Amino acid sequence: MISAAPEQTPRRLRAAVIGLGWAGQQHVAAYAADPTVDLVALSAMEEHLLEEFGEKHQVPGRYQDWKQMLAEEELDVVSIATPTFLHAPMAIHALEAGVNVLTEKPMAESGEVAARMVEVARRTGRVLDVSFNHRQRGDVTALKDVVDSGVLGTLYYAKTGWVRRQGIPGLGTWFTKAEKSGGGAMMDIGIHMLDMALHLLGEPGVTAASAMTHAEFGPKGRGGSGFGISQVEEGAPFEVEDLATAFLRLDTGGTLLLESSWAQWIPEDLCYVTLYGSDGGATIEWGGTPGNQTITVWTEVAGMPAELSPRVGPDGGHAGAVAQFLQKVRSGDVAAHDGSLPLRRAQVIDACYASAKAGEEVTIAH
Ligand SMILES: NC(=O)c1ccc[n+]([C@@H]2O[C@H](COP(=O)([O-])OP(=O)(O)OC[C@H]3O[C@@H](n4cnc5c(N)ncnc54)[C@H](O)[C@@H]3O)[C@@H](O)[C@H]2O)c1
Repeated sequence: MISAAPEQTPRRLRAAVIGLGWAGQQHVAAYAADPTVDLVALSAMEEHLLEEFGEKHQVPGRYQDWKQMLAEEELDVVSIATPTFLHAPMAIHALEAGVNVLTEKPMAESGEVAARMVEVARRTGRVLDVSFNHRQRGDVTALKDVVDSGVLGTLYYAKTGWVRRQGIPGLGTWFTKAEKSGGGAMMDIGIHMLDMALHLLGEPGVTAASAMTHAEFGPKGRGGSGFGISQVEEGAPFEVEDLATAFLRLDTGGTLLLESSWAQWIPEDLCYVTLYGSDGGATIEWGGTPGNQTITVWTEVAGMPAELSPRVGPDGGHAGAVAQFLQKVRSGDVAAHDGSLPLRRAQVIDACYASAKAGEEVTIAH
């Protein structure tokens, strides 16, 4: 009788999370549920959250000072889920200390800052990854399978967008302060759609962007939501856009349209990716309610027009993003996971803002 070789037990990794807002709590839950990881430390400004999540998941290390945590805990991996302007200093410090880093999206407040993070990841030989949890959704993974099957033929056009009825996060907090967030709706939620669309299109390069931004809700105190736990800053700044539109040229000759909005006069939230191919088209739609995703494919079967509704798989969410990060760390293939891909996303967003400011198309050098 041939018996299968025993599966190698992966080395247990010592993990920590910095930031305990909604995003950080998703990372905490993901590490806590992973039997191959010891979640050994948490860092946040809020003592009550350190206490609550420390107790809930039996996490012994609890720090208001994240540098002290990195110095004392001998970590293998850390998730950074703090306000965007803190991703780079925290990630660079952690990488320099030999820790592999998963930051929340957006990677940083600009492509220039994100590029510095990649440089440090390369120099230190550590993994740098960004949590794009939406590409882990069941509709996205199902549509990726459809694309990879070839049934749509060559994809040459796509449009995508996330338009909320009312959903400005942290109105007056770091979220709406330009130097801390790096931008508004496009930086915050448009980046998820950009990531999903480019992922589904097979990672074409974006060669040029023509974009426009508007702020019609935030400056009037309209469109706020309950998202975000940080304090409102002095003067409750609203220095970013609440709507951005972009037309992107791809190195395949194709084009991608992106709309991102935190608040809009529409009946309900809209979240979609539509793909147009030489042999078929497909769309995923999501009204903002988990479990409410649909996927539809239009093509031809035996010479007849056909409409297909592939089954939507389970949502991977943050647990999926964390699991992929841990896999990358364990693969040892640091060069393939140095943050280059999320850096390219950041550079596209930069080009969109530059285009909106200049009032003309901006090319993107690769
Ligand atoms: N992937 C997603 O779906 C998703 C959703 C929401 C937010 N985000 C991203 O996650 C990040 C955090 O967003 P949020 O909504 O959770 O923010 P938040 O403002 O609600 O919470 C920020 C957290 O960071 C902590 N923090 C701030 N400064 C700190 C410091 N010096 N040391 C230790 N902790 C510190 C705060 O104490 C707080 O716990 C942002 O980059 C945001 O874009 C991602």
